[in-house]
Amino acid sequence: MFENVYEVDHPLLKHKLSLLRDKNTQRQQFRALISEISAIIAFDATRDLKLKERQIETPLETMQAPVLAEEPPVVVPILRAGLGMVDGILSLLPMSRIGHIGLYRDETTKIPHRYYFKIPKNCENRRFFVCDPMLATGGSASDAITQLKEQGVKNLFFLCIVAVPEGIKALQAAHPGMPIYTASIDRQLNDNDFIVPGLGDAGDRLFGTL
Ligand code: PRP
Repeated sequence: MFENVYEVDHPLLKHKLSLLRDKNTQRQQFRALISEISAIIAFDATRDLKLKERQIETPLETMQAPVLAEEPPVVVPILRAGLGMVDGILSLLPMSRIGHIGLYRDETTKIPHRYYFKIPKNCENRRFFVCDPMLATGGSASDAITQLKEQGVKNLFFLCIVAVPEGIKALQAAHPGMPIYTASIDRQLNDNDFIVPGLGDAGDRLFGTL
């Protein structure tokens, strides 16, 4: 339907996402689910990591074994809710470096406001995995990626848990061809620019600030 948009398809992911959406799911389980779902999405988003061969000794013989050829990537959560995805992604990519981008969406205008930006130095040529559970209007993701491009980052991937067509279009209009990995493309935004059916406000559910 959308180019470079991957709705990850796995029964475990669908099941976990339904538990995540359920308003009766409590905070501890919500956090665990965000983490597990993020790992499954990251598994899909890392399919084309480059490999090289290295000689190793198994207990029986010498072999040329495939190992990752690229420098470890950089994972960049968009604060706050993106923080919930980091541990799950790191479970697959433990050597990653971490950047942080602080943005909050103005409750009335829905425009993202910047409050923090810190990424590892001299890593512009690595893969960057930007994560945020929700791609709603797309304003926050677009702005985060604009800031990274301004620092010279080129190899960018956006990982989320729920997206809507409005947000996908906005993000790819601002950044043509941006790869987006998500557990679900939900129906739409409601009148208040919340994703429906969605999962509520991921930041509030993660951190108990409802
Ligand atoms: C939420 C969410 C995204 C953003 C998505 O964060 O975590 O960052 O809104 O909306 P958008 O696509 O319309 O920009 P929020 O601004 O509520 O901040 P928080 O994570 O600190 O709660």
